[in-house]
Amino acid sequence: MSKNVALVTGGMGGLGTAICKALAKEGYKVVANCLPDFPPKDEWLAKMKAEGFDVYAGEADVTNYEQCGVMVKKIEAEIGQIDVLVNNAGITRDGMFRKMEKSAWDAVLSTNLDSVFNVTHYILPAMAERGYGRVINISSVNGVKGQFGQANYSAAKAGILGLTKALAQEVAKKGVTVNAIAPGYIGTDMVMAIKEEVRDAIIATVPAGRLGKPEEIGDLCAYLASDKAGYITGATININGGLHMG
Ligand code: CAA
Ligand code: NAP
Repeated sequence: MSKNVALVTGGMGGLGTAICKALAKEGYKVVANCLPDFPPKDEWLAKMKAEGFDVYAGEADVTNYEQCGVMVKKIEAEIGQIDVLVNNAGITRDGMFRKMEKSAWDAVLSTNLDSVFNVTHYILPAMAERGYGRVINISSVNGVKGQFGQANYSAAKAGILGLTKALAQEVAKKGVTVNAIAPGYIGTDMVMAIKEEVRDAIIATVPAGRLGKPEEIGDLCAYLASDKAGYITGATININGGLHMG
């Protein structure tokens, strides 16, 4: 299979950067999505180039369906057909449900779940038509097991699992696989934003005794994107140091 384009949403964040590098190492032309007018975009691209990764930027707010369409068309016209899509963009707005503002619910559902519809809807039909494609959705251990203080996030990440299984069935005969990765706690800004004592208490419950590394998620994405993983579809792959064994 010739390597075309891989699009990673939220591609300039902690996991996104590692996923972009892992896919670039496999020979894909990688496009890292970021918000429009993202100030550190050029700095991030320059840093990647200095490390030997020639990566492109694709600007769109993934909560905005129209912007996603414009981004996808631009990538297809200027870089090539998208064979691998990693729906990775996400945010947290943690808080106990009774204190949760409606805005925190809406922001998390639209960024973590609606975004998967917004981007995939423009890409999946073309993959199915060509008879090849890989969609990898980044869920979370907290979508699998639920988490205190994360009703919004757990709901969105669990929603991704249902969406993954439904889509996988629709395109399985077309050579397109759709899978979800459910990472545990990985050492990125998102996890470092948790209060230190709360974070330490969580790490103490991880059988592996440590946070995961972004590269460990990147490598799993590269495997799921590869031809070798063609018979894996509709799966939820847990990668959490034993925190939750599904
Ligand atoms: N189970 C049961 N009770 C808990 C609890 C838990 N897991 N965590 C806290 N509590 C209890 C506390 O003991 C406390 O009880 P008392 O009132 O009786 O003392 C009460 O709930 C309130 O706890 P806090 O003082 O911590 O409340 P807060 O309002 O300051 O903070 C919170 C609430 C923001 C949800 C905070 O507990 C928190 O940050 N928790 C971690 C949430 C989390 O795991 N977020 C993951 C972010 S990273 C990510 O999401 C990536 C990924 O996919 C893994
Ligand atoms: P991160 O460093 O905060 O990265 C998230 C990325 O998403 C950022 O680049 C962010 O851009 C981008 N983003 C947010 N809203 C966006 C929007 N509307 N449009 C486009 N991009 C947007 O966090 P991370 O840890 O790498 O998380 C990546 C994914 O993994 C998320 O879906 C997260 O839920 C999931 N996950 C993380 C962990 C973990 O432990 N870290 C565990 C399980 C799952 P800005 O920086 O510009 O906001």
